[in-house]
Amino acid sequence: MEKDILILAIESSCDETAAAVVKNGRTVLSNVISSQIALHTLYGGEAKVTLEDIDAIGVTYGPGLVGALLVGVAEAKAISYAAKKPLVGVHHIEGHVSANFIEHPDLEPPFLCLIVSGGHTHLVIVKDYGKYEIIGRTHDDAAGEAFDKVARAIGLGYPGGPKVDKLAKEGKKDAIAFPRANIADAPYDFSFSGVKSAVLNHLNYCEMKKEEINKADIAASFQEAVVDALVTKTLAAAKAYKLEKVALAGGVASNSALREAMGRACEKKELKLYYPSPILCTDNAAMIGAAAYYEYLNGTRHGLDLNAIPNLKIGQR
Ligand code: KG4
Ligand code: ZN
Repeated sequence: MEKDILILAIESSCDETAAAVVKNGRTVLSNVISSQIALHTLYGGEAKVTLEDIDAIGVTYGPGLVGALLVGVAEAKAISYAAKKPLVGVHHIEGHVSANFIEHPDLEPPFLCLIVSGGHTHLVIVKDYGKYEIIGRTHDDAAGEAFDKVARAIGLGYPGGPKVDKLAKEGKKDAIAFPRANIADAPYDFSFSGVKSAVLNHLNYCEMKKEEINKADIAASFQEAVVDALVTKTLAAAKAYKLEKVALAGGVASNSALREAMGRACEKKELKLYYPSPILCTDNAAMIGAAAYYEYLNGTRHGLDLNAIPNLKIGQR
């Protein structure tokens, strides 16, 4: 039997620093937010492994806010240096994609992945581990950003996605006809600024006419417009590129309406659909451990001069 490969992964692209220990890219031994627990107890206690047992340190080095990224990168470099373990920098979005490997042992490339987070909306073909072809992207707001902005407009607070998701269950998704944008000559590209503006216009109109604002109907109808665009374009891409497996990734991948609608559409076309548990959809370090494992196998190694790259591109090394 081959030796297990253990990755200690660190992710700090957003508000908090998270750490995880992942075995062979697929098995999570521990997954915590480091404000909850001191890092030394993570690999000492939680994961029942010592730093000695770790094969490499994986860390998110972009894209994201430079100040936040630097926290994780500096920590990873310090551990890499002190423990003499190789350092493997990981792209945050490639981490989101790799979250799918953790709970789906049968999932292997090639597959189509719809990445929908607070900062990104991409359709990519995962050709192999660490090899991506971007075939679609948003021209304006990311899907999660649209959820957050609409949530704020109807007074739900941040992060808006989960709140819209919950409120939408009490509303009618066909109450208001919000637009689905199609972009000429770019069948797999997205645009969400139109639907967001339509929600704001609807609110203004109701106020002007002194009509009652039904927040649940707005949430349900807005969500339906976003989900419809995501499902239609993903299915069209799967057909055009003859891919039989579809995966969802990023915070919005935990949206219940998206999971249901994509599930129904994939079943109809006999495509296999994968998505991570909600806890692995939003930012976490386990997904970075999964991505770092495949990078490690591909031979990616970074030096102690590794820097945070706020606008790191997918596939850039
Ligand atoms: O992937 P993520 O944790 O962070 C980024 O890398 O951006 O995604 C966060 C985004 C937020 O915009 C949040 O509102 C959205 O994911 N989100 C959701 C749901 N849960 C999180 N959007 C819709 N429905 C949800 N259930
Ligand atoms: Zn993220």
